[in-house]
Amino acid sequence: MKTALVFGASGQLGVPLLDRLRDDGWRVYAVSREARSEQPGLVWLQGDLARVDGVPPQVQAVFSCGPLDHFAAWYARMPLSAPRVVAFGSTSIEVKRGSADADERELAERLREAERVLFEAASARGAAATVLRPTLIYGAGRDRNLNRIAQVARRFGRVVLPRDAIGLRQPVHAHDLADAAFDCIEAEASYGRPYALPGGETLAYREMVARVLAVLEPAPRLHEVPSPVFNIVLAAAHAAGFALDFNEAAVARMRSDLVFDPADAQRDFGYSPRGFKPTAAMFP
Ligand SMILES: NC(=O)c1ccc[n+]([C@@H]2O[C@H](COP(=O)([O-])OP(=O)(O)OC[C@H]3O[C@@H](n4cnc5c(N)ncnc54)[C@H](OP(=O)(O)O)[C@@H]3O)[C@@H](O)[C@H]2O)c1
Repeated sequence: MKTALVFGASGQLGVPLLDRLRDDGWRVYAVSREARSEQPGLVWLQGDLARVDGVPPQVQAVFSCGPLDHFAAWYARMPLSAPRVVAFGSTSIEVKRGSADADERELAERLREAERVLFEAASARGAAATVLRPTLIYGAGRDRNLNRIAQVARRFGRVVLPRDAIGLRQPVHAHDLADAAFDCIEAEASYGRPYALPGGETLAYREMVARVLAVLEPAPRLHEVPSPVFNIVLAAAHAAGFALDFNEAAVARMRSDLVFDPADAQRDFGYSPRGFKPTAAMFP
């Protein structure tokens, strides 16, 4: 029986990945900071990436569906034997590299360093690592992107956007990412490489938000206002303690195209993400 170790297994990518592995007959050791109950073929190990006990010394594949920097540091210092390593990173490595915000630049640098550490450690022990960099994730009702917009819409009955929120986006469904992690296990072309994993449709930020609002009941209103008016609304929201991490750089990004090419992933492991068709169930 094939055995996998999965970090971030309780998250929006980890849960569907566990399903794929179970359906394919894998025995899985899953790590969580919380205590969780075992199921057939699934052993939960309680711990984090600083310390986790009970990790088997040898598995066929190790997956990281949580923070890449913590995972890369853990993997580099653990004598784990696993021929395959598949870890989620982020397209933020590119998007935030030139950000006006120092914290965002630091995040991009952390992701870059984490990828370097991971690929080096894997190659030093003869393992094949693949890093998957998703764009904006949605679909499992647990993301902090579109879900948060839906929460604001439900609470206030409206969402306000600047009129020029026309930067292109490629929201990607969490299940398509879990499929990608599973499908690349045996795809040799993906060994030792990072991949951008965008969603299957490219659309303007405002259109993405409008489609989310269209599935909510009762339908919230979308107000598109001149940028100076939007800035006043956002300042008022910040003063009231809302949207505090929605900073100047995030506002500027609504005008920028964040577009990535899925061609390499399509060619190497048949990546075929769905178009953006939100449903109310995705925003619980
Ligand atoms: N959200 C997005 O739109 C987005 C976009 C691009 C890339 N990504 C990448 O996709 C991956 C998943 O992101 P996510 O937003 O779905 O989930 P996440 O918040 O990064 O965490 C997923 C899981 O990782 C575990 N985890 C979180 N922080 C941890 C820590 N400090 N130490 C140990 N375990 C920790 C948690 O499990 P327990 O609570 O059970 O321990 C959680 O369920 C990450 O690599 C992220 O960088 C996300």
